Amino acid sequence: MTNREFDFLKEHFSGEELERAKERVENGEPLAYVIGEWYFWDQTFLLNEACLIPRADTEHLVEHGLKRLKKGYYFADLCCGSGCIGITLLKHTENTKCLFADISQKALDMAKLNAQRIGVLERCEFVCANIKDNSSFLNRQFDVIFSNPPYIPTNVIETLETVKHEPKIALDGGEDGMDFYRLLINDYLPLVKEGGSMLLEIGYDQKEAIEELCQCSVYRDYGGNARVAVIDK
Ligand SMILES: C[S@@+](CC[C@H](N)C(=O)[O-])C[C@H]1O[C@@H](n2cnc3c(N)ncnc32)[C@H](O)[C@@H]1O
Repeated sequence: MTNREFDFLKEHFSGEELERAKERVENGEPLAYVIGEWYFWDQTFLLNEACLIPRADTEHLVEHGLKRLKKGYYFADLCCGSGCIGITLLKHTENTKCLFADISQKALDMAKLNAQRIGVLERCEFVCANIKDNSSFLNRQFDVIFSNPPYIPTNVIETLETVKHEPKIALDGGEDGMDFYRLLINDYLPLVKEGGSMLLEIGYDQKEAIEELCQCSVYRDYGGNARVAVIDK
């Protein structure tokens, strides 16, 4: 364990609890799950084992989103996990409302708790749904749709040490990693109002594949990797 990890643990635990937490980290469990929260944008988000750990990479989606969200906009965070994207956007915009959807009720419970903690709960709606069936969304029109969907190709997941403690359902993007992008573009882009946008986090090597699916602008992160695709209607 690094000194930095130990400092985090000491901020959260003492005595026997600290010893147990140390053991979990030494056994390879991510620090974020052990302390039960992680850092994203300007605050922390509570986590349980059903939530992907929020990544700094995803802050780029928020950065581009903040440029597009106007006062009073209604937007969606599809595949919301801990709610880190939508909640951050609500916190930093005026009179906006967000629909959060995830297939995992446990993740959605955590998103609700985070929304309450951060003071935006009254502007949130939560739907536990498999987005592969878009029937619960058809009567809605959004100004903007955001999604950081699962996008790792199925056969690559097992090879990645960094994600081995995270829920597979949060990672698995199908054979080529593109299943959710095809779905979002075919079934959800029609729910975005004319003049609105869809903003998607993508994998560093998915620029060409997303450009084949739709006309979009792809933005890079500070490391020079393709990270956000924006489809303007
Ligand atoms: C990559 S994680 C992103 C979580 C969060 N938005 C973030 O950026 O940290 C993808 C999320 O999609 C959810 N998910 C996976 N398959 C889904 C489906 N068919 N319908 C709805 N949500 C799904 C997972 O439960 C997980 O929370």
